[in-house]
Amino acid sequence: MIFRQLFHQETGTYTYLLASRKGGEALLIDGVLDRADRYMQLLQQLELKLVKVLDTHVHADHITAMGELRDRTECVTVMGVQAPIDVVSMRVDDGEMVTIEGIQLQALYTPGHTIDSYCYRMADRVFTGDTLLIRSTGRTDFQGGNSLAAHKSIFTKLLTLPGDMLVYPGHDYKGDTVSTIAEEKAFNPRLQVASAGEYAHIMDNLNLANPKMMDVAVPTNIAMGLGQSDAENPNWALTVGQLMALQESSEFALVDLREESERAANGQIPGSVHAPYNRLENFIGAGGLLHGMAGASAKPLLYYCTYGERSAMAVQASQRAQGGGLENVSHLVGGIAAWIEAGGPVEKV
Ligand SMILES: [Fe+2]
Repeated sequence: MIFRQLFHQETGTYTYLLASRKGGEALLIDGVLDRADRYMQLLQQLELKLVKVLDTHVHADHITAMGELRDRTECVTVMGVQAPIDVVSMRVDDGEMVTIEGIQLQALYTPGHTIDSYCYRMADRVFTGDTLLIRSTGRTDFQGGNSLAAHKSIFTKLLTLPGDMLVYPGHDYKGDTVSTIAEEKAFNPRLQVASAGEYAHIMDNLNLANPKMMDVAVPTNIAMGLGQSDAENPNWALTVGQLMALQESSEFALVDLREESERAANGQIPGSVHAPYNRLENFIGAGGLLHGMAGASAKPLLYYCTYGERSAMAVQASQRAQGGGLENVSHLVGGIAAWIEAGGPVEKV
């Protein structure tokens, strides 16, 4: 496995880069905007293709690199279902998997530091975000933080993991880089408590100043969706209302870009073809399924995903596809989430 722990000095933030092999797919956890150039350089040097970026929660102390990296690499942005963010490509719930080539992370919903905090677990390590730090824990006094919830998350979701599991936190301010579950259980001063009430008493009396960048970082991090003027470009975007009016006549060939797990959870718009976003290049290049379907005599293609982010990027990728860009491709604004909300029919897959 390729594993890099990157540090942002000014905010003490750790960013993690994961890949299973040189030349393969990569995932980045908790990137900082200021370091986007550095991540891009490292990806290039290690010959990696960034396919997913995720944040463990909406950060208050730095601006996330997710939007920037998505715009540069057309990767998929991932956050928890509770994240109060305008658009991400993909949302995960407790227990679900985030998958790239050769690597699986299990999402553990661990509210407390914030309402949307998640930890991500692999076989030998867990990325704890700000839920569990080395010899400390994340504050619980803003963004829906709750000290009792934090206690429950830490004690029931993290300290129950194997003792030798490595702990990679979202921050460190003292120079530590990694710990283990057993070490934190034994030596983390905040965890030497007899009850949730005792923990809450400690956390509710920390009297910390707000992070310097909080007033800028939180609103910016919440609004990192694709520019809506782009995604709603009438030349290649269709609204749910327009599609509903047209669907009876089957005017479009519907293409579902989501992953199997998302399709299994929510079903598909009836009659869709499946062409997952992570293999888009194969489908849109000469000889690919979508390239063939988009031929002049066929119906125009209508891409959709969960929220309309991947599909907007896929239209743009299709327009410049190798072996001749695809004409007549558009996407569904707001994705299947908007379709379902408007009462559109879905079928199980
Ligand atoms: Fe945080």
